[in-house]
Amino acid sequence: MRAVQIKQYGGTETLQLVQIDTPKINADDILVAVKATSINPVDWKIREGYLKEFIPYALPVTLGWDVAGIVTEVGADVTEFKVGDEVFSRPDISRNGSYADFIAVKADEAVLKSKKLDFAQAASLPLAGITAWQCLVDVGQIQAGQRVLIHAGAGGVGHLAIQIAKAKGAIVIATASKDNQALLTELGADQAVDYTKGPLSEQIEAVDLVLDTIGGAVQQDSWALIKKGGMLVSITEAPSEEIAKQHGVIGAFVFIDPSSRILGELNTLVEANKLTPLIEHRFSLEQIVAAHKQSQSGRTRGKIVIEVS
Ligand SMILES: NC(=O)c1ccc[n+]([C@@H]2O[C@H](COP(=O)([O-])OP(=O)(O)OC[C@H]3O[C@@H](n4cnc5c(N)ncnc54)[C@H](OP(=O)(O)O)[C@@H]3O)[C@@H](O)[C@H]2O)c1
Repeated sequence: MRAVQIKQYGGTETLQLVQIDTPKINADDILVAVKATSINPVDWKIREGYLKEFIPYALPVTLGWDVAGIVTEVGADVTEFKVGDEVFSRPDISRNGSYADFIAVKADEAVLKSKKLDFAQAASLPLAGITAWQCLVDVGQIQAGQRVLIHAGAGGVGHLAIQIAKAKGAIVIATASKDNQALLTELGADQAVDYTKGPLSEQIEAVDLVLDTIGGAVQQDSWALIKKGGMLVSITEAPSEEIAKQHGVIGAFVFIDPSSRILGELNTLVEANKLTPLIEHRFSLEQIVAAHKQSQSGRTRGKIVIEVS
């Protein structure tokens, strides 16, 4: 089968489209014929070697940890799927990924995809959608009527986070550059903020919850925007407990865990027309270098999808 692998860490030149054996599955796995996968920044961060201490791979490794496709084989212990099922998953990041014709996925990390989602849409949801849900719902305990600030509302995580927060009844404030202001409003944000226009403290009233998707100065500037007793949840940089304490708020860091429970929640929102992934860039496996360059630009609107078959 075809797979995009890296044999060593480095730039986009390390991405190689190669022929390898179809994966063998374990008793608790399903084998999925990949219809589509999506690019997440973690893909190029892994390729560059930024995460090699955190996730030690035995290279070569197939990149990509979002998948939508069709079950072609089920492991001996798997009862919840059958051949022909249309599934989606954010599989275990320590195993070979989804830039390939087939991927072995633990059955409890996959669910049937909503029929309202085509394969490209289904592939664009798992990693970014589970992350947004874990931050806002599981950790942030978002409540109806709360004011929630979502940084990078036009990005992969942010555009789903806006829709999830709205579905939970929150008042959503989201940031983006000038060109993406209209998109934030279309996604449901109650207030669209242009972060290039000046300090956020001059544009935003106090909020209960911040989703920090940027880190650095953006995280630092966010503390003063949070009401006492509120929370900042970051997915890019562990917040300082000391600074959180000084502001009388809670700081938390989330690194996504695969979750079929949350995939089910995302399906439910899709069925209720409350969640629609936005795909602005489509590539083939052969165009993987261009797809990584797009993600690495930091300017992606919505998601980048690789249509595999
Ligand atoms: N911890 C975890 O489990 C986890 C999970 C998923 C993602 N992440 C990390 O979270 C980050 C975001 O992921 P993503 O998939 O959403 O990335 P992405 O899709 O590449 O984000 C691109 C978006 O960021 C916006 N942006 C860039 N700088 C900004 C700023 N200063 N303020 C507001 N918006 C800004 C851009 O909008 P403009 O062009 O309008 O600026 C663009 O729409 C990445 O670093 C990723 O690795 C972590």
